[in-house]
Amino acid sequence: MTAPKKLFIKTYGCQMNVYDSERMAEALGGQGYVETQDAGDADMILLNTCHIREKAAEKVYSELGRLKPLKALNPDLKIAVAGCVAQAEGEEIMRRQPAVDLVVGPQSYHRLPEMEAKIRRGETALDTDFPQEDKFEHLKARPKARRAPAAFLTVQEGCDKFCAFCVVPYTRGAEVSRPAARVLEEARDLVERGVREVTLLGQNVNAYHGAGPKGDMTLAGLIRELAKVDGLERIRYTTSHPNDMDDALIAAHAEVPELMPYLHLPVQSGSDHILKRMNRNHTAESYLRVIERIRAARPDIVLSGDFIVGFPEESDADFDATMDLVREVKYGYAYSFKYSTRPGTPAAERALVDPAVADDRLQRLQALITTHQREIQGSMVGRDVSVLVERKGREPGQMLGKSEYLHAVHIDQAQAEVGDIVQVRIVEALTNSLTARHR
Ligand code: SAH
Ligand code: SF4
Ligand code: F3S
Repeated sequence: MTAPKKLFIKTYGCQMNVYDSERMAEALGGQGYVETQDAGDADMILLNTCHIREKAAEKVYSELGRLKPLKALNPDLKIAVAGCVAQAEGEEIMRRQPAVDLVVGPQSYHRLPEMEAKIRRGETALDTDFPQEDKFEHLKARPKARRAPAAFLTVQEGCDKFCAFCVVPYTRGAEVSRPAARVLEEARDLVERGVREVTLLGQNVNAYHGAGPKGDMTLAGLIRELAKVDGLERIRYTTSHPNDMDDALIAAHAEVPELMPYLHLPVQSGSDHILKRMNRNHTAESYLRVIERIRAARPDIVLSGDFIVGFPEESDADFDATMDLVREVKYGYAYSFKYSTRPGTPAAERALVDPAVADDRLQRLQALITTHQREIQGSMVGRDVSVLVERKGREPGQMLGKSEYLHAVHIDQAQAEVGDIVQVRIVEALTNSLTARHR
């Protein structure tokens, strides 16, 4: 028997890339690869890349430059680039870095085994198609290995919204939903392997419309079906668009105990003028009304959001409107970014805000968000939460897991194993985590 080939994967970008990397590792497992944590030991290095901001894309090229010398040490080493940079730049990657053997876009991962065979014959391989066939059907073979208790599960992919700043509709393609039956099958399989919490993934996950047994199914319907899966205790979903938060989904937050009280609902800006220029198709007011309805359904819900500052034409007044919206919502978590021009997107043509002004706004926004984050973390002290234990903590006897609100919780003197869901009382709020004791 030949020794297995070693695969090193480095994942950038969003949670969907984390999920995709697992699937690619499985697909290449069929070609005799096992994963290694050491790039120096690998026969194939695969970078699963992100194109969302300029820095993300540039990181990939500097990493490729660092990896290139490894080829001199191991002539059998192959270098592959997957993900959104692969989709956006295609052949250009091989031109800029000839050490790259394989470039594969997110909709072609099921073709990796053939592509791998091709590069082993000394050729290069490039596939950035948006094929008709269902890649998930071809990515089905999963080894029945034990899994960590919390897992991602892609249910929807791609985006038809075309926000003026965003590459995702171009790199991931049009919106596609997986059939509900397939999602349920994958969820049951995950549960058999030790998973107790799934996060349903999609670029626009609440636009999910996969076929159910009686026709079309919404995300709310899918969540209700998943809640019936024995052993699946917790359900989350990300990322949602405010315009797709329908009544049924909001009602699910009130009625489905397995659906966790946490929601990531990006708004990007609090200014109607900027929202319009971003092609978001909603106003600050309509977003706030959605938040109100969600809070009425689930008063203790923790909200998170994404913001872009320094979008072309953003004035001081526009930025102030964003600050006002943040003050009104009070996010438990929020991610804010300085606008980054992405080639090929409509906003790329527009004049930039002075970078120093944008930097200043980013700092002010982040400071405000941090204040709220600390307040919400602080308000957890003395409260009882349920924690899914994910791993051992650093201190002896300590375990680490996530509360229903997605807070990282350290349990001191834990009487619990990985995979347990335990009821604990929060005793202290640290900057990025909470400390808890058994009651
Ligand atoms: N599908 C998700 C997430 C898209 S990318 C959604 O619709 O919300 C994640 C975040 O990156 C976005 O919410 C946005 O805040 C940020 N982002 C996207 N394009 C960007 C750009 N060109 N410059 C800066 N931030 C950007
Ligand atoms: Fe990008 Fe907008 Fe689609 Fe989100 S909704 S992926 S920000 S285009
Ligand atoms: Fe990045 Fe692509 Fe995800 S651009 S954020 S890896 S969808």
